[in-house]
Amino acid sequence: MKVIIYSVPTINGLIAMKDEKDYSFISDESWDSYIQSLKKTGVFVMGRRTFEASLRTGAFPYDCLNVIMTKQKIENKWGDKVIFTDSTPKETLLMLENKGFSEVIVTGGHLSSSFMKEGLVDEIWVDLMPRVFTSGIKLFDGVYFDANLKLLEVKRFAENEVRLKYRVVR
Ligand SMILES: NC(=O)c1ccc[n+]([C@@H]2O[C@H](COP(=O)([O-])OP(=O)(O)OC[C@H]3O[C@@H](n4cnc5c(N)ncnc54)[C@H](OP(=O)(O)O)[C@@H]3O)[C@@H](O)[C@H]2O)c1
Repeated sequence: MKVIIYSVPTINGLIAMKDEKDYSFISDESWDSYIQSLKKTGVFVMGRRTFEASLRTGAFPYDCLNVIMTKQKIENKWGDKVIFTDSTPKETLLMLENKGFSEVIVTGGHLSSSFMKEGLVDEIWVDLMPRVFTSGIKLFDGVYFDANLKLLEVKRFAENEVRLKYRVVR
């Protein structure tokens, strides 16, 4: 199973503003590309807080299998397209492998960190947005880890934006 953390941060590594309401710092080009990647991969694993933010913006559910990791009991109003799970990262990946997936996109600053800490991540993709603000949600947060990365790809897209793909050195 190839595990990819894919996020769209500012150049100082924030993925949401403090109020988690205004996502206009994410360009249309990056958003379209994100949605296409989710469709191609077929499964999106997100933390509960990313799920809630996606509900608020109307982006949820995405056009793929949506897996929300949470300890809370949340009613599934969306049917087969959505799974809520209180499993660990490892158990969640195993469940997806058993469903036949070979690649998965993971996101959410806290959830991504948990996958990194457990050494489960193969690649990190970031679309760097040309913005800086100083208060918000971090690309990685919550637990300590330290990882070396190898640069796989640099791509300039849109007028102002850069996509970086890294392999996590294990
Ligand atoms: N710009 C971007 O690319 C981008 C990408 C993703 C998200 N975002 C934004 O980032 C914000 C959410 O990120 P976040 O870091 O605050 O939260 P998050 O990682 O999305 O969610 C964290 C929550 O997930 C649940 N969880 C279940 N298993 C976990 C585990 N093993 N490790 C960690 N958490 C686990 C916990 O909730 P329970 O208490 O329910 O168990 C935890 O509080 C939103 O505003 C979202 O829109 C932006």
